[in-house]
Amino acid sequence: MKTTQNSNILSRRHFLQAAGGLVAVSALPSFADDPSVFPERGRFERLVLAYQHIRAGAKRPFSILHISDTHLTEAYPREGADRLKSKVRRTRTFGGRQEEALRDSLAWAKTNVDYVLHTGDLIDWQSEANFDLVRKYYGETVFGSMGNHEFYTYLPDEKHTWQEPFKTRSWPLLKANFPFDPRFSSKTVNGVNFVCLDDVFGTVQPDQVALFADEVKKGLPIILCMHVPFFTPHIWRTSSKFWQCAGRRFTNAVLPDAKSDYKRQQEDPVTREFVAYLKTEPLLKGILAGHLHVTVQDRFSPTAMEYVIGGNFMFHGEEILFS
Ligand SMILES: [Fe+2]
Repeated sequence: MKTTQNSNILSRRHFLQAAGGLVAVSALPSFADDPSVFPERGRFERLVLAYQHIRAGAKRPFSILHISDTHLTEAYPREGADRLKSKVRRTRTFGGRQEEALRDSLAWAKTNVDYVLHTGDLIDWQSEANFDLVRKYYGETVFGSMGNHEFYTYLPDEKHTWQEPFKTRSWPLLKANFPFDPRFSSKTVNGVNFVCLDDVFGTVQPDQVALFADEVKKGLPIILCMHVPFFTPHIWRTSSKFWQCAGRRFTNAVLPDAKSDYKRQQEDPVTREFVAYLKTEPLLKGILAGHLHVTVQDRFSPTAMEYVIGGNFMFHGEEILFS
């Protein structure tokens, strides 16, 4: 199976790839190879996979593994006390099995799908050790989408603003460590155009809208890949239940008030207009996102379903068949 990227032809012998993420998987060690893990069951018993089918109009069928939110939390001893404290604290938050989950996912993908997509928060915060893991697992020709955590340091003087200027400091670092443009990229696979953009604080910017318009001019079916979903009522209700109302039963189906990413999507005129336009764009055949740590899906437009995949740190992923 061939793909095109800037006229380069890549071989899947070397890479599993997708919009949002193209990950080198050959010769990766995997915890799934340890016979003491689920000795009576399958090698990949820990993976929690959902299965989807997007009828995009592909020239030939293919499938991807979509994962998101691995939240790697490594730091070297030389990186200082603050980062080592973050390593302890954030590893506790994410369970300490994140790299195992990533390895299991990639080992499974090697024989089960053609491509791997990662829609952000591969790392939990910026450290030398985490960026070394990025390069280790993505390989040279990877491209994909950022998550909000790719922009964080968790150093004491950092103040998260969830606004564009907060990102400025990180662009050179992310460009140096991820082998794709972290702001906007695209890749065509069997006639399907995977468009990846940074919307890590819930919003898109005018330059990305203009770049998306150029992609539409190609006339190919589009799969939009990004970290934060464009919220529908069902996706917002699900996110609110998980993050704000955990431990409570539903007492009614009233939509919770918009907050954070959803509120910004409603208030930011560029994003609001872009979402409204997307709902009318017939070339849009699907949206793939993460960030929420739960698996949920909803119809976004007459031509596109939106699929949000749960946290890879919990061994979640989804296989998506494209035809
Ligand atoms: Fe996130």
